[in-house]
Amino acid sequence: MSERRVGGSRRVDGEVTVPGDKSISHRALILGALIRGRSYIGNISPAADVAATAGALQACGGAVRPFGDGRVSCDGAGPGLSLRSPVGALDCANSGTTMRLLTGVLGTHALTATLDGDASLRRRPMERVAAPLRAMGIEVGTTEGRAPLTVRGTPSPLGIDHVLPGASAQVKSAILLAGLGAQGATTVRQPLPTRDHTERLLRACGADLVADGALVTLRPVPLTPFGLRVPGDISSAAFFLALAASRPGWRVRCPALGINPGRTGILEVLAEMGAAVEVEEGQMAADVEPQGVVTVAGAQLRGVIVPAALVPRCIDELPVIAVLATQAEGRTEIHGAAELRTKESDRIAAVVRGLRALGADAEELDDGLSVEGAVRLRATRLDAAGDHRLAMAWAVAAALVAPERGDCVIEGAECVDVSYPGFFADLAALTGGPR
Ligand code: S3P
Repeated sequence: MSERRVGGSRRVDGEVTVPGDKSISHRALILGALIRGRSYIGNISPAADVAATAGALQACGGAVRPFGDGRVSCDGAGPGLSLRSPVGALDCANSGTTMRLLTGVLGTHALTATLDGDASLRRRPMERVAAPLRAMGIEVGTTEGRAPLTVRGTPSPLGIDHVLPGASAQVKSAILLAGLGAQGATTVRQPLPTRDHTERLLRACGADLVADGALVTLRPVPLTPFGLRVPGDISSAAFFLALAASRPGWRVRCPALGINPGRTGILEVLAEMGAAVEVEEGQMAADVEPQGVVTVAGAQLRGVIVPAALVPRCIDELPVIAVLATQAEGRTEIHGAAELRTKESDRIAAVVRGLRALGADAEELDDGLSVEGAVRLRATRLDAAGDHRLAMAWAVAAALVAPERGDCVIEGAECVDVSYPGFFADLAALTGGPR
């Protein structure tokens, strides 16, 4: 496990072009390998999670071919016809999206597969995806509700009408992907809208898909291949945007950034805390995904309430929002986020532990956390807990410690590769710190 020292920043002012969006990249690879004909993807995410999806598809005979510079071509034969039983277990590594989405896709092929992952992924709940797929006639076995999973698929599952107990884009997407080969319509009802990357790409490929935020209905029709340059990942940019937001005079500009409304909750939180947030909308990426230039300028921040309704739109940004809350005057509360306990780590417990080590006043709530600010953070050792978003949130916290107070040490910092391999280099370029 590697440690990394990160010192306080004197000034943050610059531009960061973050890599392609991880969520969109998973979906583009999966649909590209499925849809009959050749699809092209550009600016694919370099995340280890996305490599796990590509590798698992290839292990099932999926024609996924990287050809340099973030470009990939995919050839499919249509749902039900593109994938076959792999030899050996599919390694989903640390990626919940890989495991959940692939379970749906594999379910609509006549094959048998085992999906496994690392210790963190083996702890995460999988019944939420297994149960609806079983209702579609797909055999899914779990290990006491967790990975390893076994899938015995069928080329013609039954369409279902499923009410999601919790808001989850992964579970919604798994069901829709299984529904591509189904007999009849598949409907998913969600308690709150979640990111709609799957729906957008499907629609661009000619899918018969009706969505109104809370409800999505898909009827299988033949799909056409696509070409998509993936916009930048707002969940990666969030670390730099939050850092810039924390001090008057600091500023970050992120060009070609994905601004899908299902992902822009972070911008609303930063603006409500008092930062200046500017979004210049650009051309849609391939008529599929909105993108633009996002600039955030810092201010003396104030504490905010992040309500449950906003949580799905900033679920992966909550750790860095909690870090930023230490620099805001007054109380910040995050509610309706119990789901954070089932992410790559228990993010509620791990964030509160780290914030306290930094000298902040933070409390766990059953379904979120609270932070009282503003405080002068102190240099300390911080545990990434094998969780990429924690490692990056701790790097932001370290950059917020006054430089004369010393460096923070992040234990297990290498896990940033799960979503953003170039993170520390980009942070150093922005803050003028050592690479
Ligand atoms: C993701 C959805 C979210 C998010 C995860 C990626 C996706 O998970 O936390 O990092 O790509 O669909 P849930 O769908 O479980 O909320």
